[in-house]
Amino acid sequence: MAKYSIAWMPGDGIGKDVMDAARIVLDAMKLDAEYIPCDIGWEFWCTEGNALPERTIDVLKKSTCALFGAITSKPQDDAKKELAPGLKDKNLVYFSPIVKLRQLFNLHTNIRPCKSYPGNPLNYRGTRLANPSGDEVMIDQVVFRENTEGMYGGIEFYPLPESVYTALCANPKMKPWKDKGLENVALSTRIVSKQGCTSICRQAFEYARRTGRKRVTLVEKPNVLRETGGLMTRIFREMAKDYEKPSGGGIWADEANIDAICMWMFKNPQDYSVLVAENMFGDIVSDLCAGLVGGLGFAPSANLGDNYAVFEPTHGSAPKYAGQYKVNPIAMLLTAKMMLNWLGEKPGGAAEKDKAARLEAAIARVIKEGKVRTYDMGGKNTTLEVAQEIARYAAA
Ligand code: NAI
Ligand code: MG
Repeated sequence: MAKYSIAWMPGDGIGKDVMDAARIVLDAMKLDAEYIPCDIGWEFWCTEGNALPERTIDVLKKSTCALFGAITSKPQDDAKKELAPGLKDKNLVYFSPIVKLRQLFNLHTNIRPCKSYPGNPLNYRGTRLANPSGDEVMIDQVVFRENTEGMYGGIEFYPLPESVYTALCANPKMKPWKDKGLENVALSTRIVSKQGCTSICRQAFEYARRTGRKRVTLVEKPNVLRETGGLMTRIFREMAKDYEKPSGGGIWADEANIDAICMWMFKNPQDYSVLVAENMFGDIVSDLCAGLVGGLGFAPSANLGDNYAVFEPTHGSAPKYAGQYKVNPIAMLLTAKMMLNWLGEKPGGAAEKDKAARLEAAIARVIKEGKVRTYDMGGKNTTLEVAQEIARYAAA
């Protein structure tokens, strides 16, 4: 029996292309794993009315962890139109299978590292005033995004149930919407908990301390989102006291508003190290960070729970490139590296830690040599050629 059982979820579009690339590398590294293919994504919504079939959930429950490519999501009305004829009148509601997975397996923490590798032609060169020489600006950031609550917690209404509307209307501030009438109002909520805020802040600080990083920045908007943003900010500040001491790592804890950091990150990205944020703000800021290290082709992520994890690149299914083996596999391969690191934390997993380090070194080497590159880096090679080159250097 293999040491690890990995649920294998290519999903939609380029998800399949980049997962094929991952397999080339994992096989070359001789990871002792069995890979169990799982159904997930748009095809299963259209044919079964469920983008995340129960049989997939069952496989995940029995597996060590999951590797996931990407899915296609569409707004509710478009989703309904694409259902198979026999399913159209069944009142089915589309939900994003990856959001569902995060909630179902309580994958409360989303980690998104964004790091520049020397020699990447897409490396950020800053604004001219900040960086007159135009040299590469080397960035090494890790975003800790709360993954199950906040704006993406899934508590939304349209139309609003009468009871919710009535309860809200007890607040005089509701007057403008009350005047517009129940049938004209939609509601998406931002619900956070002390537990959720504490957990994500704790993990960001602990990670900084473990890895010797000296700055943790909270990305919020407490001046406007007074209750949810306020709760997160109070918890962050209180926790920061422990970590600011030399015994806690001597970490500088600071705060930025989501809008302001989009500007500061563009001007001085090299100054940031660990960022911590609520679900939607973490989603937004991590795409910005990805842009600064070469784009979505370089942005991996891990969804972590207490005992289970789903690893996926930050990018989506990029339908226009689906099946062309054109896109950059590096985001997916950095994602596989995160998976190896996670496996390496388990008892008896030391060999996987070494594999993770070898894989990252191989990726860095291929980027630097610049001989084999996908279109986004100005090259003409395919997804699988890049994977093969990385596999050659990473091989056992
Ligand atoms: P996307 O990430 O799929 O692609 C946007 C653009 O980024 C692409 O057209 C391409 O130019 C570039 N890109 C993405 N991945 C790349 C790679 N590996 N190498 C080189 N270039 C790459 O985002 P988009 O177009 O907004 O969404 C397409 C679909 O994906 C939608 O249905 C969306 O809902 C879904 N999506 C799924 C996610 C997931 O599975 N977690 C995350 C984001 C979007
Ligand atoms: Mg996103």
